[in-house]
Amino acid sequence: MLNQIQEAADYIRKKMNHAPQTAIVLGSGLGDFAQNIQGPIEIRYEDIPHFKQTSVTGHAGKIILGKINGHSVIVQQGRLHMYEGHDITDVVLPVRTFKLLGVENLILTNASGGINSQYKPGDLICIKDHINMTGKNPLIGKNIDEIGPRFPDMSEVYNKELLHQLETAFKKIGLNFQTGIYCSVLGPSYETPAEVRMFKTLGADMVGMSTVPEAIAAHHCGLRVAGIACITNLASGISLEVLKHEDVKDEANKVKDKFSNLLLETISLLQS
Ligand code: HPA
Repeated sequence: MLNQIQEAADYIRKKMNHAPQTAIVLGSGLGDFAQNIQGPIEIRYEDIPHFKQTSVTGHAGKIILGKINGHSVIVQQGRLHMYEGHDITDVVLPVRTFKLLGVENLILTNASGGINSQYKPGDLICIKDHINMTGKNPLIGKNIDEIGPRFPDMSEVYNKELLHQLETAFKKIGLNFQTGIYCSVLGPSYETPAEVRMFKTLGADMVGMSTVPEAIAAHHCGLRVAGIACITNLASGISLEVLKHEDVKDEANKVKDKFSNLLLETISLLQS
């Protein structure tokens, strides 16, 4: 496994001009943010050793290196999901590769169904903690001692300092700052109303099919993690509307300017 991560990182390193400081994973329908990257260098997953292909519409399948206001970034446009049939270790390979490239901060973004009654479609919510309902963990198997401990502490997966910087960014651009607990499921079927009621009872504020594998692997290897969920719909049973992936993408698309402004403001608060 370590060899695979090193080979992927070696391939990307040959193409890059400067080490990226911050990695951003763009969720469903949020890929347009990549247009903000200056001097972009694009690399398709199919060209990177050991990277798997994404099969989901709304997920492009490339990484883009470049700068945003002087800050070097690496952006993953199109993430891999377990529901596509990918092994969880393949889902987290990009994040582990970013660590080897010198990345310090990881911003994970996603589309989520809102469970908390305060949330409306179009809201951007900062993830303060998660509940892993996927039944999977990316750290299963022989531990890679070179990148992290066998039994990592999980009391602060989402870095408090980054969360504070997100709060500053939200306020600067006049957005309501809300935090919440993200519950991740395997998918691809959406939840039943009974499942959503259960997640609510457990303390979840929103539900989605990604983010948690990457957050666990990233925290394990010492990255500072932040998460932003775009509420694209009210979760099953909270609203009586039938859920469709097309509607999820459309709703994410509607907030793309707000989302881009928030990320740009957040990046400007990170040191160059
Ligand atoms: N459930 C799970 N994943 C999602 C949802 C949802 O309601 N909306 C967007 N991704």
